[in-house]
Amino acid sequence: MRYLKIFLVLALLITVAITVFNTYKNTPLAEPKLEANKLNNTTDLWQAPEENLINQEANASEILYGKELIQNTALYLGPKGSVKSISNGMNCQNCHLEAGTKAWGNNYAAVYSTYPKFRERSGSLETIPKRVNDCFERSLNGQALDTQSKEMIAIVSYIKWLGSGIIKGDKPVGSGIIELAFLDREASTEKGQVVYESKCQSCHQANGEGLLSSDKKSYAFPPLWGKNSYNDGAGLYRLSRFAGYVKANMPLGASHNAPILTDEEAWDVAAFVNTQARPSKNLSKDWPNIAGKPIDHPFGPFADGFSEKQHKLGPFKPIKAKRAEMKKNKTT
Ligand code: HEC
Ligand code: HEC
Repeated sequence: MRYLKIFLVLALLITVAITVFNTYKNTPLAEPKLEANKLNNTTDLWQAPEENLINQEANASEILYGKELIQNTALYLGPKGSVKSISNGMNCQNCHLEAGTKAWGNNYAAVYSTYPKFRERSGSLETIPKRVNDCFERSLNGQALDTQSKEMIAIVSYIKWLGSGIIKGDKPVGSGIIELAFLDREASTEKGQVVYESKCQSCHQANGEGLLSSDKKSYAFPPLWGKNSYNDGAGLYRLSRFAGYVKANMPLGASHNAPILTDEEAWDVAAFVNTQARPSKNLSKDWPNIAGKPIDHPFGPFADGFSEKQHKLGPFKPIKAKRAEMKKNKTT
């Protein structure tokens, strides 16, 4: 009997010890968000903080609503949206993969650390809400969200939370879109069509207009061109953004360390898709300083003398060289 008691007491003590050990093992001592975002060395890719840490935040419900809006934008703000009808049926997540957390998946890692930021496109200092509205007006070919609205506050809260462990000014490795090396030739729409038909069409459809989900409110496969796609003022309309995005993310399942397309295929399919019909935006207020246009911005006038066609499809290396030359002449 006495031995049984001793045994039971010992068993209890061991259980308590194990529980205490496990609790401490799973509880980081420092601020958990910082820990999750920290990079051990420069070759480490950014990782989003653990989603369950959201609940520790005072504004958890705001952050969670923001995440929901990024993932299911169309249900709230699309043509049949429950809150407002101000966008084309696409979700932010169609382009900012995994709710803006995927490495090289056009994620939001560097947004909170680098905004407000001067941007040449608008020629002004842009805040996060302004940048979010750029995507509403261009990528979602829609209208801006009221900056005081519950929805904008939620989206910004989520983006802030994602990037809150990153030191101001830092751009973690893996944030945004990968930069592919320029080809030596013009990107080929003919070769791109072949890539499209063999590797993209099964999901994005022969007419490029995607496929709606069974709820008819959002897309199972989002459109790549046509009336419900991004407009010609959107980031993806620039060849380098499209090529970099698909290289690390498409066909669905590809990633930066397991890409499916070669660089050439990525540039060529970008050329094919971005020469199909899509909505156009009045861009007359963009690029007040024309010398600030990116090499692959496809609308003139340009300060470097190259044609719109070459700015759209390349070859880009001669433009890059000429610009470097112009810059050198200016400073000497
Ligand atoms: C059709 C694709 C697409 C959709 C849909 C889209 N975006 Fe974007 N977004 C982009 C591209 C491309 C960029 C520019 C990335 C670059 O230049 O590296 C961008 C940039 C951004 C940035 C700035 C990122 C940075 O690091 O500077 C924010 C913030 C953003 N988008 C928010 C949103 C939000 C919020 C939504 C939904 C309302 C949305 N986007 C929908 C394609 C899209
Ligand atoms: C197996 C299906 C599938 C294939 C094949 C596929 N995609 Fe996608 N694609 C998707 C899905 C699904 C999304 C949206 C991802 C999300 O919301 O998480 C997407 C998103 C995109 C986007 C951003 C959203 C948009 O509509 O503008 C682009 C650009 C894109 N794909 C290009 C391509 C290209 C180019 C190919 C061929 C090289 C390709 N995809 C092949 C399923 C596919």
